[in-house]
Amino acid sequence: MSHAGMIECREVAMTMTTGNSMRRARLTLAAFATAVLGASLLVPPAYARPGPAPEPVKAPVAEGYGGAVATVDLDASKVAVEVLRRGGNAIDAAVAAAATLGVTEPYSAGLAGGGFLVYYDAERRKVFTIDGREKAPAAMTETSLQENGAAIPFDEAVTSGLSAGVPGSVAQWELALRRFGTLSLKQALRPAAEVAERGFTVDQTFHDQTAANAARFKDISSTAALFLPGGAPPPVGSTFRNPDLARTYRELGRRGPSWLYGGRLGEEVVATVKRPPVAPGATRNVRPGLMSLDDLRAYRAVERPPAKVGYRGLDVYGMAPPSSGGSTVGEALNIIDALPDPGLHEYLEASRLAFADRGKYVGDPRYVDVPLRELLSDGFAKERACLVGERAMPHPAAPGSPDGDYAPCAATPPPSSPEAGPAKEGPETTHLVVADRWGNVVAYNITIESTGGNGIVVPGRGFLLNNELTDFTFGPAPGDPNLPAPGKRPRSSMAPTLVFDDGRPVLAVGSPGGSTIITTVLQILVNRYEFGMPLPEALAAPRATQRNTAQTQAEQGFLNRYGAELTALGHQFAPIAEIGAATALEFLGGGKVQAVAEPVRRGGGSALVVAPAK
Ligand code: GLY
Repeated sequence: MSHAGMIECREVAMTMTTGNSMRRARLTLAAFATAVLGASLLVPPAYARPGPAPEPVKAPVAEGYGGAVATVDLDASKVAVEVLRRGGNAIDAAVAAAATLGVTEPYSAGLAGGGFLVYYDAERRKVFTIDGREKAPAAMTETSLQENGAAIPFDEAVTSGLSAGVPGSVAQWELALRRFGTLSLKQALRPAAEVAERGFTVDQTFHDQTAANAARFKDISSTAALFLPGGAPPPVGSTFRNPDLARTYRELGRRGPSWLYGGRLGEEVVATVKRPPVAPGATRNVRPGLMSLDDLRAYRAVERPPAKVGYRGLDVYGMAPPSSGGSTVGEALNIIDALPDPGLHEYLEASRLAFADRGKYVGDPRYVDVPLRELLSDGFAKERACLVGERAMPHPAAPGSPDGDYAPCAATPPPSSPEAGPAKEGPETTHLVVADRWGNVVAYNITIESTGGNGIVVPGRGFLLNNELTDFTFGPAPGDPNLPAPGKRPRSSMAPTLVFDDGRPVLAVGSPGGSTIITTVLQILVNRYEFGMPLPEALAAPRATQRNTAQTQAEQGFLNRYGAELTALGHQFAPIAEIGAATALEFLGGGKVQAVAEPVRRGGGSALVVAPAK
């Protein structure tokens, strides 16, 4: 090993021996290996210097031992698996991968975004979640996304300072590392800074996403300078470098989160939100935003109890509000569990009903009394399951009454209501999974909302701002739980999910895709546990998404296979090119883990393991 390599290894080892981390890592290793996995677990020694690793290649499935990761991107997966190889844990690897996705997937993730992280701590045998959701500024009110008593045009809100939420990712990274990690933020950001400096190879997906955004990017000087070099999207095969972002990550590592949450970087974010750098001659109406430095100072990532349901004898843990991911996936699973012999028709109907309830009841729990316990109760699920007949129910399904007083089937009211369907949402966001050698598991959704966020790069800093506040209901919509308010978190659909059998983690899954995140996660679980598909097949299978809309959007492969049969049951379909870009992992027994990414969607993802099975 080179001298430089040795120094790097020692630095990680020293970090691991500080305070509780060392105790935790050692205890966890011993407890997990003996109590959970048995003697057959192939575990590299906890603090050994890693041997030379074979150069990882991009593949959607990997099986092996000692830790596993799946992301949408080879560079991010490589960073995560290297952190694991060098003795870091799942949280360290997840944060390092998330920061790297901010480089290589800058239109889906970044330090000015937010996310939800679900974490199983093997030593404590407990699931934790961390909410790093963006917040509305204190100056935002119920009517801030309206003009003259009507919603401002959605497309105009998308590219604006007004839609930029107070970012949560950096606070979330810091909290996750402090509570559960072994690396410092500086160490966790280092690989991402190196990727930003060295550059990555532009693939078709990055090229296409840039091209799809080119019209608005060229209207913002700082964005055009970074993402349209020479006035056009970087060609496929070229190397894309982001030295500004490399410097930003390094300075953030040195100065810590307060550099953003109240310091110089925060001042620059606020200045950019308030006076977006519109290119000379651009005619786009880029509305200024409301964020202040005090909003940044006040931001906190929050640990929350997970949302949990029992399903087919398993325990499914997800993200509680302000995400609707855990409540909606959980309610739909409960409904499916209450039905005899569920198939795709029941999957669509359960999802329709759960989305009706999501729309009526779920918002930021600090502002809205979300009846989460009842939404996830078996009694409510049984009442809702009564509405699932042999044919598709009339559209739209009405929300139910999760009030603890549940009627037998015959007394259930008919399923129809003037409730609106879900708001416009796109294919944005990203998701990653990590498991480490100790049995800790992370499912982590990160986002800047639209693909390309609000389209505004902070000048000289190399990252886009989010437009997460477009996840609010714009209104007017009296009584809607997701209207904006000062400091409120917009309702999310992100659904990082962990599945347990008899207290042991068996599967982790999640996806991007706006509100289709919920149906993608649900469909993968249905594919795996109702239809018995192996996990790679459960991810690759063609998808359909029913979100209490008149038509169910479906990929062509789904329509080819199941369209006629389901249309005969009264379902109506609209084709859509692609739904989601999931990542998942499953524990196969004997310590073997299978990491899984998409084989095709969004250009395919990257699964890696520390020690591949022979
Ligand atoms: N921005 C996507 C979501 O939060 O659901």
